[in-house]
Amino acid sequence: MITQNPISSIFSFTSGIQFRQNWIRWAFGFFFLAVCMGLVMRSFHVIEIPYFEYRNILHTHSHIALLGWGYLMLIGGMVFGLVKEKDQIKDYKLLFLGTVIALLGMLFSFPFQGYGAVSISFSTLHVLLSYGFAYKLLNLIRSREKTPATRLIRLAIWFMVVSTFGLWSLGPVSATLGRMHELYFMTIQWFLHFQLNGWFVLGVLGLILLYFEEKGFQINLPSYQEWILSISVVMTFMLAVTWAEPQPIFFQLNGLAVIIQMLAYFWILKSIFSLVKTDQFSGFGRLLLLLALASLVAKAMLQGLLVFPSIAVISYSIRMYVIGFLHLVLLGAMTMGVSAVAIARGWINEKPISKLGWILLISGFVITEILLFLQGTLIWLQMGFLPEYNFWLFLASCLFPISLAFLLAGLRSYEFSNQSITNPKIQLQKRIKPETMKKTLIMSMGILGILLTSCGGGSGEGESTTTTDTSPQEEVQADPKGIGEFKSVEIGEGIDPELAASGQAIVDMKCTACHQLNDKRLVGPGFQGVTSRREPEWIMNMITNVDVMLDKDPQAQALLEECLTRMPNQNITAVDARGILEFMRQNDLEKASK
Ligand code: HEC
Repeated sequence: MITQNPISSIFSFTSGIQFRQNWIRWAFGFFFLAVCMGLVMRSFHVIEIPYFEYRNILHTHSHIALLGWGYLMLIGGMVFGLVKEKDQIKDYKLLFLGTVIALLGMLFSFPFQGYGAVSISFSTLHVLLSYGFAYKLLNLIRSREKTPATRLIRLAIWFMVVSTFGLWSLGPVSATLGRMHELYFMTIQWFLHFQLNGWFVLGVLGLILLYFEEKGFQINLPSYQEWILSISVVMTFMLAVTWAEPQPIFFQLNGLAVIIQMLAYFWILKSIFSLVKTDQFSGFGRLLLLLALASLVAKAMLQGLLVFPSIAVISYSIRMYVIGFLHLVLLGAMTMGVSAVAIARGWINEKPISKLGWILLISGFVITEILLFLQGTLIWLQMGFLPEYNFWLFLASCLFPISLAFLLAGLRSYEFSNQSITNPKIQLQKRIKPETMKKTLIMSMGILGILLTSCGGGSGEGESTTTTDTSPQEEVQADPKGIGEFKSVEIGEGIDPELAASGQAIVDMKCTACHQLNDKRLVGPGFQGVTSRREPEWIMNMITNVDVMLDKDPQAQALLEECLTRMPNQNITAVDARGILEFMRQNDLEKASK
C-alpha cells in the first residue's frame, strides 16, 4: 500500500530495491549536471561567455562532481552492499533526502554567488550528513566479522571524515591569515588529498573486494599491508607541504611516500587482478573494472615521478596536469570502478543504449586525458600549444553529456528481471516512481527558496580584487616597469592596426587558453584594462621574461598568489611582444568605447 504520511510518501520506495534505484538515478543525474558544467567551462576557452563567472561554474562543477556523483555512488555502494535487512535500509532514507537537498542547494547557489553564505551553508549540511552516514556505516561494520573488504571500507570512511577537518579550518584560517596564505592553500589541499587518495581510492577498492567476498572468494590482504596503505595515504600529503616549504627534507619524505604507495598499490592490485581472471565480471563490467585498475596503476606511476623534486615542483604549476590527475582518479578509478561493481551486482542493466553510453564515456575520458597530459607536457617543454587545442578539448568533452544522456536513458526503465519480480509491491512502486522523484525535487526546491530569500541571496566576494597583501616579505621597491630587457617602449598616439593584428594572431594561438579579452578571470586575469593597470614595459617584460618576473617582481608575485597557477614561458620574441602590446591597447580602446 502507498502510505499517506507526507514524509514517507515522498520517499515511498518502501522496497530496498526501489530506494536503491532512485539513489543511483540521482547520482547519475548529478553526474550529468557536473559534466554539463565541465563542458561550459571548456567552452569559456573557445567562445566568450557573458554573465557567468568562470570560477563560480568551476566551484559548482567540482562540488557536484565530487559530492553529488562520486560521494553518492560510493556511499550508496557501501549502504546497499553492506546492509542486508530491509528494516535497516529505512534508516538511511532521511540521510539520503538531506544529502540530495544539500546538493540541490549547492547546485543553485554556487553558479551565482561562488563561495557565499548560501552555498557554504549547504556544503556544511552535506558534511554534517556525511558524519551521519559514517557513524551508521562504521557501527554496522563493527558489528560484523572483519574482512579485507570491510576493513578497507572502514579506512575509506575514516579518511573521508579526516578530509573534512580541512574544511572546518578553512573559515578560521581565511579569517586570521587570509586567503593568500600558504596555510589556506594547504587546508584546501588537505581536503582534496584525503578525499582523492583516501576516501575515493580506498572506497572503490573496498567495494570491489566486497563484491568478490560475497561471491565466496578469499582475499589475502594482511593487516600490515593495510597499515602501509594507510601510511602512504597520510604521507603523500607531503607534496602539498613541499609547495609551501620547498626544503629538501620534505621532498625526500614525499619521494619516500610515493614509493611506499606504489608498493601498497602493487599488493592490492595484484590480488584484484588475479580475481578478475576468475571471470566474475563480464561484458562492460569487466571492461570498466580493468579501466579502473589501469587508472590506479597510472595514478601510482604518475605520483611515482614525484620522487624527482624538479617534477614535484612543476606538477602543481601546470594546470593541465592537475586537472588530468583529478580526472584520472575521479573519472578513471572511481567512476569506472563503482560502475563496474554496480553492473556486476545488477544495479545497472546492460542495455544497448547503456552500452553506447559507456563507449562514449570511455572515449571522452581517454581522449581528454591524452589531450590534457600532452598539452601539459608541451607547456613544460615550452613548446606552446597544440593546434586548436582548446577546440579539440571542447569537442572531446561534448562526449560526456551525450554519454550520460544515454546512460540516464538506460537507467530510466530499470528492469527488475534479476530481482524478486514476484513481489507485487515492487511493481506498484515502480509505477508511482516518477511522481516521487518529482516531489522530492519540488520539495527541496521549496526549502531552497526559503533559505535563499531569508539570506537575501548573499553577495559573494567573487570578483578578484587584486589583494596586494603587504606581508612582511622583503620590502623591495617595486619597479613599475618590471624586470627584463624592456626599459622604455615607444608607443604611438593611435593604434598601429598591422602591428595589433600580428599581436592578435599570437594571442589567439598562445594566450586565450588562459586569458579572456574581457575583464573576467579565466586562469589568468582578463586582458581588459591591463594597459592602464600596468606600464607598457612591465607588460612586455611579463610576456618575454615571465619566470624571472614571477620570482622577483612584486606585482607579478601578487598575481601568482592570487591565481595559484604559473603563467608558462612560451618563448615570445621582442617583436611579437610588441605586437601583443599593441593588440592589448587596441582591445582596451575598443572595450572603453563600448
Ligand atoms: C597556462 C595559462 C597561461 C597562458 C597560456 C598565458 N598566461 Fe598570461 N597569465 C597567466 C596567469 C596565471 C597569470 C597571473 C600570474 C601568474 O599566476 O603566473 C598571467 C598573467 C599575465 C599578465 C599580467 C596580467 C595583469 O593583469 O597584470 C599578462 C600581461 C599576461 N599574462 C600575458 C599573457 C600573454 C600575452 C600570453 C600569450 C602569449 C599569456 N599570458 C599566456 C596564465 C597564462
